[in-house]
Amino acid sequence: MSNLKPTPSRDQLIKSAQEAMKNAYAPYSHFKVGAALLTTSGEIVTGCNVENASYGVTNCAERTAVFSAVARIGPNMEISAIAIVNDHEAPCSPCGACRQVIYEFGPQATVYFLSAKGWTEQPITALLPEGFRLQ
Ligand code: THU
Repeated sequence: MSNLKPTPSRDQLIKSAQEAMKNAYAPYSHFKVGAALLTTSGEIVTGCNVENASYGVTNCAERTAVFSAVARIGPNMEISAIAIVNDHEAPCSPCGACRQVIYEFGPQATVYFLSAKGWTEQPITALLPEGFRLQ
């Protein structure tokens, strides 16, 4: 018997993201978003969007998930995959800021999201060509 944990599937990550979406604070856009990331060591950490009356300081679901993962697991946390859902079943790929944040902790991460053509997966490097790193 192996004592290795099975890797959560894309569908499990989407389920976790849907659960997290229930906590979204989106009184301005009425567009709730949930994200669930899988670390390279097998933990799932979730996040939701948190809006603000000063619209620009809104935090997207993806960044909430990444920052929560760092707070919970530590600065060496690595993202293996992240799934994003919303309550409108609308196409929703991560915004530019979130792409850069995902890349920081997951240069090899796979991103699952709803595109105009349905569910898709893309490596973060396809969504963020030449992402910035400080060497
Ligand atoms: N939003 C996310 O949380 N993630 C995305 O990938 C796209 C947009 C949020 C920000 C804002 O609270 C609402 O969705 C509408 O833009």
